[in-house]
Amino acid sequence: MYNYTLITGSSSGIGYELAKVFAEYGHHLILVARSESVLNELALELHREYKVEVKVIPADLSQEKEVYRIFDICRENEWHVESLVNNAGVGDNEGFANSDWRKQKQMMAVNMDALVHLTHMFLPDIMQISRGGVLNVASTAAFQAGPFMAVYYATKAFVLSFSEALNEELRGTGVHVTTLCPGPTASGFQKTAGLEHAKLFQMMRVPSSREVARYGYKSFRLGRSVAIHGWLNRLGVQLLRISPRALIVRLVRLLQAK
Ligand SMILES: NC(=O)c1ccc[n+]([C@@H]2O[C@H](COP(=O)([O-])OP(=O)(O)OC[C@H]3O[C@@H](n4cnc5c(N)ncnc54)[C@H](OP(=O)(O)O)[C@@H]3O)[C@@H](O)[C@H]2O)c1
Repeated sequence: MYNYTLITGSSSGIGYELAKVFAEYGHHLILVARSESVLNELALELHREYKVEVKVIPADLSQEKEVYRIFDICRENEWHVESLVNNAGVGDNEGFANSDWRKQKQMMAVNMDALVHLTHMFLPDIMQISRGGVLNVASTAAFQAGPFMAVYYATKAFVLSFSEALNEELRGTGVHVTTLCPGPTASGFQKTAGLEHAKLFQMMRVPSSREVARYGYKSFRLGRSVAIHGWLNRLGVQLLRISPRALIVRLVRLLQAK
């Protein structure tokens, strides 16, 4: 009987690379995303290369019944989840008034509802195994409001607040929650979020998903509460604390207006 790390959004970008890093360090995996063929290929590759067990659950995390189904499949097959990586996320670089409501709703469902729901279902088992924890992927977007990505930034502020609070609740249990906050990172996100020409991605060197994933894994293993990737991002977050909010929100507007 194996213990597994379940990683959502492992078909692309940071989640794909997180799956590789966890496998490299000997973790058995359950891969979750909608792109079944990509997950199957990755599962074969990781099994061949690192000799770990890799299961695949294709699922749409914007659907509540699919989120329940993930838990049921793990239960029925006795795949014990010792660590949960809530990485799946979507963005949308669009003015709110003209945005597609279905997209906004899906964003909230994937970025917040599924993350909290999966954590709620798997946490009792994780606490019983008491070796692993939860790695939630937020963003540096969590630290300020984001005009033209208003809902996305708000979902990430939610993830950060929820995860930090839960980590403190779990103090002394042997289980911890790490919140990974990447800044702009090269992945499929730019395209799906409509950020391909955004100034934010052109102003500085954008790290690869692999770099961010390795940092995330290390921070998780060290039991860090909040892990902001890159010294420039860490500096930026510190400056936010002492800068007027009205000024910051204007600045983000300039960076994200199309
Ligand atoms: N890239 C950045 O600049 C950046 C910066 C800060 C934070 N982040 C965060 O990092 C995380 C990973 O994003 P990424 O940059 O690696 O983007 P990505 O390459 O677009 O990957 C997103 C992943 O989420 C999955 N996903 C999206 N909608 C889903 C749904 N309805 N059901 C199941 N899975 C779904 C996708 O899989 P399928 O399409 O196969 O379902 C994919 O595997 C996200 O939470 C994102 O907000 C990214």
